[in-house]
Amino acid sequence: MSRAIYPGSFDPVTYGHIDIIKRAAKIFDELTVSVLKNSAKTPLFSVDERVNMLKEVCMDLPNVKVESYSGLLAEYAEKNHTEVIIRGLRAVSDFEYELQIAQTNHKISPSVDTIFLTTSLEYSYLSSSIVREVAAYGGDIHHFVPDFIAKKVYERAGEKANGNK
Ligand code: COA
Repeated sequence: MSRAIYPGSFDPVTYGHIDIIKRAAKIFDELTVSVLKNSAKTPLFSVDERVNMLKEVCMDLPNVKVESYSGLLAEYAEKNHTEVIIRGLRAVSDFEYELQIAQTNHKISPSVDTIFLTTSLEYSYLSSSIVREVAAYGGDIHHFVPDFIAKKVYERAGEKANGNK
């Protein structure tokens, strides 16, 4: 059985991520979407909130499961007996960073390889921080994320703005 992990911060999951999830789910028998910690980022949503949003988004994809992990990605993949990590590449600017992560992960766990899927053209500009930024100023994010996520982002952005007053 072919298995892969699609890791990320998913803060929040966007249509760009969903595009990668759906395409990877067609390629592999089993796909695990996993929320991991990027220590350089301060998330808007808790790990549990991000996992729940992803679960709702992946509800209709029977071969996709959603998890979280708080350690190294390469070790997590090994523990799950998964040899493939999926990452999306949006533009050349993603490449250097992704190459470094992929090579580090392969060094830590030589059985683990990274496969890159090119992000569909219509989402190549998109990122979670763009979504958070547009929402923080009350802009329309419905083209970027599903409606139920847009609602949560506006709520959280509002709470944050009030907390900063
Ligand atoms: N569509 C839309 N946005 C996309 C995208 C796509 N197809 N592909 C990437 N992005 C965006 C994300 O929204 C995110 O945007 P943001 O920076 O504005 O939040 C950005 O690209 C990249 O984020 P993401 O894919 O979530 O990865 P990340 O760089 O935040 O985190 C981890 C990468 C979590 C996989 C990595 O930090 C990790 O492995 N952590 C575990 C600890 C570890 O092993 N560290 C050592 C790694 S060498």
